[in-house]
Amino acid sequence: MSRRLSRATLGNVAVILALLVIGALLLRLHLGDTVWWTAPRQPAWLLASAALLVYAGLCLAVWWRGRRRAEAVDSAHPPLLLVWASQTGFALALAERSAQTLREAGLAVRVRSLHQVDGPLLARMQRALFIVSTTGEGDPPDHALPFLRRVMSAAPSLQHLQYGVLALGDRSYGNFCAFGHQLDSWLRQHGAHALFDTVELDNADPATLRHWQQLLGQLGGNASEQPDWSPAQYQPWRLLAREHLNPGSVGGPVYWLRLQPPPGETPPWQAGDIAEVGPRHPVAHVEAWLLRHDINGSWQDDDGITLAQHLSSAHLPDVPADDPPALLQQLQPLPHREYSIASVMADGALELLLRRQRRADGTPGLASGWLCDHVAVGGIVDLRVRRNPNFHGVPPGTPLLLIGNGTGIAGLRAHLRERASTAGARTWLLFGERTQQHDFHFRSELEQLHREARLERLDTVFSRDGGEHRYVQHRLQAEAERLRHWVHDGATILVCGSLQGMAPAVDAVIEQVLGAQGKEALLLTGRYRRDVY
Ligand SMILES: Cc1cc2nc3c(=O)[nH]c(=O)nc-3n(C[C@H](O)[C@H](O)[C@H](O)COP(=O)(O)OP(=O)(O)OC[C@H]3O[C@@H](n4cnc5c(N)ncnc54)[C@H](O)[C@@H]3O)c2cc1C
Ligand SMILES: Cc1cc2nc3c(=O)[nH]c(=O)nc-3n(C[C@H](O)[C@H](O)[C@H](O)COP(=O)(O)O)c2cc1C
Repeated sequence: MSRRLSRATLGNVAVILALLVIGALLLRLHLGDTVWWTAPRQPAWLLASAALLVYAGLCLAVWWRGRRRAEAVDSAHPPLLLVWASQTGFALALAERSAQTLREAGLAVRVRSLHQVDGPLLARMQRALFIVSTTGEGDPPDHALPFLRRVMSAAPSLQHLQYGVLALGDRSYGNFCAFGHQLDSWLRQHGAHALFDTVELDNADPATLRHWQQLLGQLGGNASEQPDWSPAQYQPWRLLAREHLNPGSVGGPVYWLRLQPPPGETPPWQAGDIAEVGPRHPVAHVEAWLLRHDINGSWQDDDGITLAQHLSSAHLPDVPADDPPALLQQLQPLPHREYSIASVMADGALELLLRRQRRADGTPGLASGWLCDHVAVGGIVDLRVRRNPNFHGVPPGTPLLLIGNGTGIAGLRAHLRERASTAGARTWLLFGERTQQHDFHFRSELEQLHREARLERLDTVFSRDGGEHRYVQHRLQAEAERLRHWVHDGATILVCGSLQGMAPAVDAVIEQVLGAQGKEALLLTGRYRRDVY
């Protein structure tokens, strides 16, 4: 960068020197009797025109070389395109914030306003995020109109594009987030693949913003380390029980957790909703940090909370302030993590299914490490329930196809429990994991539901049980005829689990079996929805 800057500076200095020399030469014409008042003769015109052409050619060549070089860099490390369309500036502000988050996670990001985007640019990109608002009566922002006229009326092929949409709006208007949905539908119709369902942001709702930040963290290859843009107000839940479900598995350890809200403060939730958890550092980690910086952790604030307790839920600074009050001011809270709720309120407690993640350096993930290894049974977990209407259930009379892998069974199990009490509800579960022996989570419960005909179909696929590796998408493909029948009978499809691998592969099978228009119709009517991470 500094080399490029110094070359640019040198170039500018050279141009200024050249202009000074030309100026000095021209000045001579004005000195003495040499002033030339007549029109230039033909050779002078030709010379001037030739010089102008050479200069224009030079400018073109420099511009073209720069463009080619930028494209060459792009093809080695394709940047993520972040596009915004905003009427009053909020979408732009969120785009800038999102770009910063992604860059801090190490991603190359190119930010563009929607009116600067065209079909060839979208076709060249591999990943794009759109943050767009709706104005008027369900209209796009004014500056987006050229995009509608030039680009959305054409038919670019966007087969290689994976995208996500954050649609800004306000539920008090009739056409909620209409432009975001219009854009999403257009992208899909032209072959682009949605990374996740369009996120609807109602009036800057803080919980939705935290969810968007979480998705950005996933795209960055690691969940975000940045403090939440709008921190959650957690409740102190008590951990009642925890069980390691898959000892001996070749996959990462999976734990089942059961939690209870503070007395008299049970928040309502339903199948599809999310638990936001505030992680904490292990006690030993905080003590080691205090020792290293020679700080007394037993200092208490006015509410009797010790410094060590404050530190447990904050980023531990490399260079801490000297006195405890200044250190408190310096602390940045740890960001939240999201987990699909695996139970319904009638179960009397909130259940989660977690895989303990490992970071590149081998240490456990921040939140999964805290929940699976460190918080004691009987201890307190900071938790908040977030409504997730996009993944709520369907009326008992509607057939429901649940598809998922790994810990994705958590969200699907809540739906099964919600429907299990209703006679006559038709439900089909298609679940995939590594081995039947170790990773068939909730096996006895699922088999019992199936035996009692409260789960009409139970299909499982285990990729490491010998032979060719087969996954959920292969099983769905094998059941193509049944899928067609269920959809014909009005089924809704809910997918929960891996954003990478499973969700796009299942999406491709659904499109292949039902056709692009069939899939589109399901999406438009809310009959195909996903909660993937
Ligand atoms: C809507 C939603 C629902 C979710 N539901 C569940 C659930 O039911 N059960 C569950 O276990 N997790 C779920 N997650 C993922 C969860 O929120 C965390 O991202 C995950 O537990 C890792 O967080 P961490 O703090 O332990 O790891 P971090 O300290 O953030 O990172 C640890 C390492 O894990 C890797 N990592 C982070 N997230 C994932 C991931 N999703 N898959 C693979 N590797 C990852 C990172 O690359 C990093 O190397 C959900 C996420 C979303 C957005
Ligand atoms: C005049 C006006 C009309 C709006 N019309 C809609 C609408 O039809 N549908 C909707 O979901 N939101 C509507 N909104 C809400 C905006 O989409 C929302 O405030 C959004 O956050 C604005 O983002 P922006 O600042 O990036 O434009 C409207 C807002 C205004 C001020």
